[in-house]
Amino acid sequence: MLKKKSSKLLALLVASTVVFGFAGCGKASSASANAGTTKQETKVDKIKKAGKLVLGTSADYPPYEFHKSVDGKDEIVGFDVEIAKEIAKDLGVKLEIKDMDFKGLLNALDAGNIDIVLAGMTPTPEREKSVDFSNIYYKAEQKVVVRAEDKDKIKVADDLKGKKLGVQKGSIQEDIAKNQLPGAEAQALGKISDIVLALNTKKYDAAIIEGPVATSYVNANKNLVIADLKLKTEDAGSAAAVKKGNKDLVDAINKTLERLTNEKTIDKFVTDANKLVE
Ligand code: ARG
Repeated sequence: MLKKKSSKLLALLVASTVVFGFAGCGKASSASANAGTTKQETKVDKIKKAGKLVLGTSADYPPYEFHKSVDGKDEIVGFDVEIAKEIAKDLGVKLEIKDMDFKGLLNALDAGNIDIVLAGMTPTPEREKSVDFSNIYYKAEQKVVVRAEDKDKIKVADDLKGKKLGVQKGSIQEDIAKNQLPGAEAQALGKISDIVLALNTKKYDAAIIEGPVATSYVNANKNLVIADLKLKTEDAGSAAAVKKGNKDLVDAINKTLERLTNEKTIDKFVTDANKLVE
């Protein structure tokens, strides 16, 4: 048993030496620090070595993630950001945030420009082809947002026939529009804030937006309301995504999520984020 183990270890050592041999070119010190390790470098190892976890998000999504001026400085805040900070803390690294259009997030993961996505992203079979998801940490319904003056005119799916319906590019709301409101003329934009602007300026007649986000925008735009029109969606869950094959990182994320759930910290993060939304 012992013998078998040590020959396996030797094989791994050889494999990892090769990896470190390349990776170590520019960084002699870290290469030698790792020379004694016997396992192949995992994603978590790489993040620890870099000293930072790079989060990709789309900060147009209050209370999940949004821009806020804190002491005159623009910052990205929200409960996804707080969760990401906890994941980074548990890994013993600092958090770096990259803000981009929602549609670009999965490509950025694939290209290795970011380590993790937290963006109110819902696991779907299509997405699962290219990324691995953590456990779901939050659930929400989908809502239709309209101008207050149209609330009585837009009550059922048929009322949206031929009307312009805003959805975010690359989101599940795009599919919901196609499947549940096929009579509407769906228009996709990169940022939710631009969809809300198009609604305000009457370029669009309605938009499909995730419940908590819809509430945030409606509260900030007095002429917008949530329509009575109900969509037949189950609650959409949010999960963290990582590039496919990084099970060690998914495990680490799930461990942090479990701790936060047990401590009821996620609820607190959501409440705090809602307070930060103007
Ligand atoms: N939950 C939806 C999806 O996964 C929309 C998420 C949009 N997130 C954002 N930060 N804009 O497709």
